[in-house]
Amino acid sequence: MTSPRSVRPPSIPADSAVLAVPPWPVFRLGTAINDLFSWLAIATSLPEIRAMQLANVHLESLVTYAVVEHGIVEALVEGPRKCEAVASERGLVPGFCCRFMRAAAGLGILAALNDGTYALTPVGRALAGELQDFVRASQQKSNRDALAAAATTSIATGRSGYVEGVGKEFWDWHDTHPEEAKAFDSMMRQVTVPQVAALVASLELRGNETLCDVGGGDGTLLATFKAHWPSTTPVLFDLPGPVEAAHQRFAAMGERLDARPASFFDPLPIPDGHCDVLFLKSVLHDWEDQDALRILKNVKPKLAPESSSSRLVVYEAVLSAHPPSSGLEKSKLMLDITMLAINHPGARERTFDEYRDLLKAAGFTAQPTLLNTRSISSAILVPP
Ligand SMILES: C[S@@+](CC[C@H](N)C(=O)[O-])C[C@H]1O[C@@H](n2cnc3c(N)ncnc32)[C@H](O)[C@@H]1O
Repeated sequence: MTSPRSVRPPSIPADSAVLAVPPWPVFRLGTAINDLFSWLAIATSLPEIRAMQLANVHLESLVTYAVVEHGIVEALVEGPRKCEAVASERGLVPGFCCRFMRAAAGLGILAALNDGTYALTPVGRALAGELQDFVRASQQKSNRDALAAAATTSIATGRSGYVEGVGKEFWDWHDTHPEEAKAFDSMMRQVTVPQVAALVASLELRGNETLCDVGGGDGTLLATFKAHWPSTTPVLFDLPGPVEAAHQRFAAMGERLDARPASFFDPLPIPDGHCDVLFLKSVLHDWEDQDALRILKNVKPKLAPESSSSRLVVYEAVLSAHPPSSGLEKSKLMLDITMLAINHPGARERTFDEYRDLLKAAGFTAQPTLLNTRSISSAILVPP
């Protein structure tokens, strides 16, 4: 593993998410304290109580969903209010609304004040902002059905939760449900922003590289790198919809983006050796090994062989080879179950050794290194 350190890019916009990435000592201490308290909470619970809590944890998601979906958190942005006033403004049944708000206070979303009003906590404030899309997409019926089917049926059939619970593969379903596809893209963006900020804060560049992002979605990663490393040249490949969104995103920044619709299962339409750095972020985990190999074989010739800083950057939630001991590791295992539910069979999170074997099979002979970031994702740096 390369030693994690902070990288200071030449330009840091005032609204940069990189500013929210904590320094390494703070991150390490914060996660260690959090892990300790989580461990203590489990260790000091009666096993039966803990088991019942686990069986009912979806209720916490539902309370979170209710206070977002019905505008309860939004109604508190201007300041504390009584639950009856919120219910009346939002057209809700006061008795029920007050009980949901009381439950939300139990979860740390709201704070119940002594004068009988409720206020937003920092978590509630986050839910009142852009994270609303994230909550709505997580609770979309198709997602809930797919996750339930993964646990009840897929585990015995080996088919994806989407096929079992919704009747179609994830991408096919979204092709015919544009509203849900939009909500998913928005959710992906919410997840991607802090992950990319953590990568920018850890990945050293020369500053004048051609950065290629394959399966780059709406261009969030490249736009962030361009804002922090202004002399880099971004190039993006994805399916036509995301490519269009990426063009728009760069146009809004007043920047030009070379974005081309292309499947990563076919040879990419750029000359060999074109990319100094080639990103595959949250792409390989969508595919089984054979497909992941095809993607890796297709991108390999596009890396500049003669450039000393040339590398493939696989950015994924890399699983620990050991039993999970931290909250971060447990989150990765939940992400792995999400892959099982929404993607083709074989889609999954992998350990570093599993990625190393895939890379070797794709013809990458040099040893990859693991660069941890202050997020759920780690970067695997692979020389060409
Ligand atoms: C999980 S998303 C990751 C997007 C982006 N890298 C990010 O992290 O936000 C996977 C991406 O792969 C793209 N994709 C799926 N099949 C593809 C294909 N055959 N060729 C190119 N891109 C594809 C999707 O459109 C989507 O943008």
